[in-house]
Amino acid sequence: MKRIHILGISGSLRADSTNTIILKTLGSLLPSDITFEIFEGLDKIEHFSPGVDSPGLSTPGLFDSEAVKRFKTAIAQADAVVICTPEYAFGVPGTLKNALDWTVGTGDLNDKPVSAISASPLNSGGNNALASLLLTLTALGTKKNEASALSIPNVKGKITDGRVTDAHTLNELRTQCANLLGLVGG
Ligand code: FNR
Repeated sequence: MKRIHILGISGSLRADSTNTIILKTLGSLLPSDITFEIFEGLDKIEHFSPGVDSPGLSTPGLFDSEAVKRFKTAIAQADAVVICTPEYAFGVPGTLKNALDWTVGTGDLNDKPVSAISASPLNSGGNNALASLLLTLTALGTKKNEASALSIPNVKGKITDGRVTDAHTLNELRTQCANLLGLVGG
């Protein structure tokens, strides 16, 4: 039987990103027979502009660049996607939103089980970005439920030596894993 494969997408490009650390920790909490990768190359994706992508074209994705193709292929090969993002100026980082915009015309995330996570050093947990991301994921036709979202406040105190160590947050991440796998199976 084919192994379940999960794709992680971090909204942060920083080398020591807390959001990427959360994704790595979540990956380590998945059952051992499930494969997990974090997409690299979000910063290589060109600025989206309607007409450059597939809408209105008979051949979907005809003009996709290598970077965009890599992104779309990574999504296609995944049974589910976890996005973990910081909040910038009360919104989703432009790099992440730009990448997601490329999937609108070709429906790459349509029916794809997703988990949306935001993390912030502030008490708010990046709630504005999370709400915005969830709206985008709804527009993209992803498969999710009320439990598919998690915001992690005061994130810096929950990480030690490049790993999430806070017990409550680890439990929340386990719950995200279980819910996501339920969506894959259901
Ligand atoms: C931020 N940060 C931030 N945090 C937040 O909760 N709400 C916000 O609106 C913003 N806005 C914002 C703007 C800019 C330009 C920067 C550089 C930062 C703080 C942000 O959450 C913090 O830098 C995180 O650590 C970024 O996530 P990574 O890179 O650690 O994953």
